[in-house]
Amino acid sequence: MEILIFDTYEQMSKAAAKAVADLLNRKPNAVLGLATGSTPLGLYKELVRMHKYEGLDFSQVTTFNLDEYVGLKKDHPQSYHYFMHENLFKHINIPLQNIYIPSGTTNNYAAFCEWYERRIKECGGIDLQLLGVGSDGHIAFNEPSSSLGSRTRIKTLAHSTIQDNARFFEKIEDVPIYAITMGVGTILEARKILFLANGAKKADAVAKAIEGPVTSMITASALQLHPFVTAYLDREAASKLTMIDYYQWIQAKSIEAPKP
Ligand code: F6R
Repeated sequence: MEILIFDTYEQMSKAAAKAVADLLNRKPNAVLGLATGSTPLGLYKELVRMHKYEGLDFSQVTTFNLDEYVGLKKDHPQSYHYFMHENLFKHINIPLQNIYIPSGTTNNYAAFCEWYERRIKECGGIDLQLLGVGSDGHIAFNEPSSSLGSRTRIKTLAHSTIQDNARFFEKIEDVPIYAITMGVGTILEARKILFLANGAKKADAVAKAIEGPVTSMITASALQLHPFVTAYLDREAASKLTMIDYYQWIQAKSIEAPKP
């Protein structure tokens, strides 16, 4: 895994946004896998800025979001549909028909999940997947004990996730208990993955994901099995990595390193 450590959240977000923009400049019809939550907000803000002031074009881009709460309608302010439209889609020129987000209100979840997986394949697979990490080490809503081969399905949220996400709702009882989420197996099929984390609250999960054993108890650790993952971390999120000096040494030397 390539590990990049930044002094601030803003620097981390800008560097990750640049990686997305570089892909879109190389491949204007790229398929992006998108995450919600507070982690990618800075990245989305930077993509919007690049669209507005640098002409970054999304007209041929297709996107697939990782997850959605079960039971929340698209216009619910805490739904991931709403989040994505408010924080990214309404500010860029992506055609609405190119946006895929799991449905939290379908009347046939099994059929929907199969269709979602099929659509990803029909669109050519995900070129670049953005991921945050939960304090329990989850990626998307693949909570501890999720199969590392799992596909898009319904998951019951862990208590710690419900508590973490309660900050977005009026009261904890309002946080949905179920989510529809891409599986770990689905995520690992992306061609490249950007794994983002910031803040001290993520330091344990980040250390376990990057340096711990590969285990379904920390589903982010499955990223160790993927050949093209870059971790974008701020100093606090990176603070519990035991090999941090080595990662920073690699980062500092990367300019002069032989290119693969
Ligand atoms: C969101 C998602 C989750 C979040 C994770 C971290 O689509 O898949 O795995 O990335 O819960 O959330 P934040 O960024 O709010 O700390």
